[in-house]
Amino acid sequence: METIGKVIGGSVSEKIFIRLHSGAEIDVGDILVVRDRKSIFYVKVIDMGIASLVPGQFIEDMAGQKLEYDLEYDLYDEKDRFYRVCRAKTLKVKKERFVPPRTIPHFFSDVMLVTEKDFEFLKNVGEVPIGRLRLGTKDIDVTISLPAKKLISHHMLVVAATGKGKSNFAKVFASGLLPLENHASIIIDPHDEYYGTKGIKGLNSHALRERIVLFTPRFEEKPGSEPLILYAEDLEPGDFIGIVGLSEAQQEALDTLYRVYNEDWLASLVADKQINELVENTGGKIHRSTLYALRRKMNYMMELDGRSGLVFTLERRKVPSVHEKINKAVLEGKTVILDTSLVGDESEKLISSSILSRVFALYRKTKQVNPERFAKLPELLIIFEEAPRVLGVNVLQGGNNIFARVAREGRKFKVGLCAITQMPSLLPREILSQMNTKVILGLPAPMDRDAVVNSSAQNIADESTEIQMLDAGEAIVTSPFLEFPMPVKVFLFDDLLKAMKKERPVVGL
Ligand SMILES: Nc1ncnc2c1ncn2[C@@H]1O[C@H](COP(=O)(O)OP(=O)(O)O)[C@@H](O)[C@H]1O
Ligand SMILES: [Mg+2]
Repeated sequence: METIGKVIGGSVSEKIFIRLHSGAEIDVGDILVVRDRKSIFYVKVIDMGIASLVPGQFIEDMAGQKLEYDLEYDLYDEKDRFYRVCRAKTLKVKKERFVPPRTIPHFFSDVMLVTEKDFEFLKNVGEVPIGRLRLGTKDIDVTISLPAKKLISHHMLVVAATGKGKSNFAKVFASGLLPLENHASIIIDPHDEYYGTKGIKGLNSHALRERIVLFTPRFEEKPGSEPLILYAEDLEPGDFIGIVGLSEAQQEALDTLYRVYNEDWLASLVADKQINELVENTGGKIHRSTLYALRRKMNYMMELDGRSGLVFTLERRKVPSVHEKINKAVLEGKTVILDTSLVGDESEKLISSSILSRVFALYRKTKQVNPERFAKLPELLIIFEEAPRVLGVNVLQGGNNIFARVAREGRKFKVGLCAITQMPSLLPREILSQMNTKVILGLPAPMDRDAVVNSSAQNIADESTEIQMLDAGEAIVTSPFLEFPMPVKVFLFDDLLKAMKKERPVVGL
């Protein structure tokens, strides 16, 4: 193996300095190994610079001569006197086994490029492959996998600017869960890009597509899909709280209506009863203006056109509810996709809030009532885009909602969130730190970078510049379940599909 540099200084608390060979081709983000007498240091290039022993004024003078007189004099010892140095942070030290970096290599230790062999230890980390090990802008043939079982209920955050590969990552991760026993996921899909349509390849092209259930208002056009129709009788006041802005009086009114009318509460409020009648039946406790305001809000959220809209309806239900069907699919370890692309923001939030509430209640109750059965429930991952809409600071000021609750308690109940966003700075710090695994793709805005850097399980302050420059699909993954913040080139979902076709995997489930 070729030596491309020598250690020339540094400290344990700061960085190691390396003088580079004139022919070394490395970039910021590269991982190198430093071979000391007994240990191997895995280091990552944080910064590079040029240096010289020649005093600055002479260098300026020489540059001037080159510029003004086109003088191209060859310095016979140029390589000795003008060179590059890099600053590298120690990721991990390997003695007999891996230990945290509490020591430093000696002067003149050899620095080398890494090879596949140096990463044998990554082989058994996890079962969900997400990409290849990335060295700066290159990548090498080392597959990075995440340990789903441990990681899911500790929540995930996928952050990046638009077009950097958030949805692609989520697709890759979700398809990696498909072959696993006892794992389920629910994907809330506002752009109709996860299941697959004419233009975009999605999870329905996966070899294990029989483990996927699509719920969509367009069920008639999509063979094999289930109708996404929610009946008012299946909704509860809690589905609205913390999702739509409600005053205290309005929240109380919802509870009162529910007590009086039970499952007819919503239909009564929105259409079936006169306001006078509602006031009377609730003992005059609710103000008329409160009821009018609520009627308007509910109508708007449910996008009703008469008694039924595209997804919501006030009609009586004669078939099993979507909630029941989804809970059943989850128990069977399926991947559920909810196509919310045809409804507005508010409506989508109501759909996802009610579905998450019911499935979370199922997990919680099972744990209380039947711990043995609970132990056998699948680990459940909820994937949702534009997370600040339900977890933003301003939303949660108006009351806690089910997403915040799962963020805090999900771990105890095997339910994890995979929150996708381009603006992590809008999420409360507490929630950000609950998201233990962070998949960070390119994030140019300083505020958003700071938000993820400051809430990461591992120290990635040094990677801030790298995060700013990441290209589509290039990621840093921080997680308490990984040895160090892992630079990854995420697989392109379409490539995964192609590879799958070639291999024709034996599906032994
Ligand atoms: N891992 C990747 N490798 C190569 N190209 C990628 C990768 N991820 C995303 N891209 C490219 O970027 C585009 C946008 O990806 P997408 O996941 O839709 O971004 P986002 O959801 O962050 O807006 C994709 O269509 C693809 O061309
Ligand atoms: Mg996207």
